[in-house]
Amino acid sequence: MENSEQRRPRINLTRTLPKQNAYTLALDNEYREYAFNEERAPLNKGKWRSEVFKCDDSKPVDVEVGTGAGMHFAHYANKHPNRNVVGLELKYKPLIQSIRRAQALGARNSAICRYHAFNIDLLFEKNEINNIFIHFPDPWVTPRKPKNRVVNRNILDALYDMQREGSFLEFKTDSREYFLWALDEIKESKYKVEFQTLNLYQEGGKYFEQNFQTTFEKIFTRQGIEINYIKLLK
Ligand SMILES: C[S@@+](CC[C@H](N)C(=O)[O-])C[C@H]1O[C@@H](n2cnc3c(N)ncnc32)[C@H](O)[C@@H]1O
Repeated sequence: MENSEQRRPRINLTRTLPKQNAYTLALDNEYREYAFNEERAPLNKGKWRSEVFKCDDSKPVDVEVGTGAGMHFAHYANKHPNRNVVGLELKYKPLIQSIRRAQALGARNSAICRYHAFNIDLLFEKNEINNIFIHFPDPWVTPRKPKNRVVNRNILDALYDMQREGSFLEFKTDSREYFLWALDEIKESKYKVEFQTLNLYQEGGKYFEQNFQTTFEKIFTRQGIEINYIKLLK
């Protein structure tokens, strides 16, 4: 993947931070078993079921990119005890909030990584994961930097290869500009579109009925902004 190699972003190492705080400490201590910093996370590649979740190969491992404070992440983990979910988040505070919230009820089917979404192929083997959720990723509209958008053709190719047959990818955004741009990227990918709408709340039907409102989604819908939604199938 020459392109993604060129675009491989580097993030700072938690270990070398000049000053630790409650969140960075929780990541490497209290939640160490289920929260992985940028150095420990890729060691789980190919071993999420056997080493982290200690489950059969048949148990699904889903992925949420950019969990934020983890409302959907925790809801999903607790609603689906027969599945596992791995979150990716860059910022320490939402990362710890996400794993704390998800594990508060005692379930141990969730894990979180401090990892850049553009490097997700370093976290999972081909055919290792099931469903993927990308909810309200940073739109990079101001400043307009489409190359920084997570739903792009290179990442879509990588995600497709990592997913097992029959899995889905769900993408929601408040940004019409990002969504229309992403539709062109999606056309270049191998995914089939199961459903798409520019207005989930008016035209979403069963997808709206099953929808879980994320933290950012609540803010946008209160402002009357239409929610763009697409569900892709492998
Ligand atoms: C706009 S928030 C949305 C949070 C949540 N999904 C929601 O809908 O409420 C985007 C989140 O993605 C995280 N993020 C941004 N770029 C990322 C990247 N490249 N890799 C992983 N997480 C990222 C941010 O730190 C932030 O928490």
